[in-house]
Amino acid sequence: MYELLLTSHSYLRYFVLIMLLAVVVRSLMGWFGNKPYTNVDDRIGLYLLIFTHLQLIAGLILYFVSPFVRFDSTTMKDATTRYWTVEHVFVMVIVVALITVARSTSKRMTESLSKHKRLAILNTIALLLIIAVLAMSDRGVLGTTTAG
Ligand code: HEM
Repeated sequence: MYELLLTSHSYLRYFVLIMLLAVVVRSLMGWFGNKPYTNVDDRIGLYLLIFTHLQLIAGLILYFVSPFVRFDSTTMKDATTRYWTVEHVFVMVIVVALITVARSTSKRMTESLSKHKRLAILNTIALLLIIAVLAMSDRGVLGTTTAG
């Protein structure tokens, strides 16, 4: 159960990163190139939201079964347990909120330019936060414990 969840959470990260990068690139191009917001933009945004929420669910369950999540007097002294118990979760919940708010608020906007701008700003922050927090772990941004 733990192995399966960790592997799923690990691989889903690549899907989240790819979709997030796609949304950031397209919204920046839309914003600075003054392009219309199309069905393709909407589809990519939807997939990003789905993968991100699946990642949240897997992460939440993982939080209760991971041996690196501990609540005792040593948690904050040990860099690994501090990272997985506090830092990773704290930043990733903000990331999920940013991606969700970007999608839900931009949906309500009517102008393409405003949509692109909102999506570009919030998703770029989310992408930078993911890269920064994963780089802080001893596994790196693209690394894994499960597949070698
Ligand atoms: C977009 C959001 C997230 C991304 C990109 C992400 C990414 C990752 C990555 C790359 C790993 C390491 C996987 C491996 O070693 O193979 C990991 C592990 C983990 N994540 Fe996340 N995560 C996200 C959200 C969350 C959330 C919201 C939680 C908790 C509520 C969470 C809890 C955990 C836990 C507990 C571990 C496992 C530590 C272990 O036992 O090895 N993650 N995550």
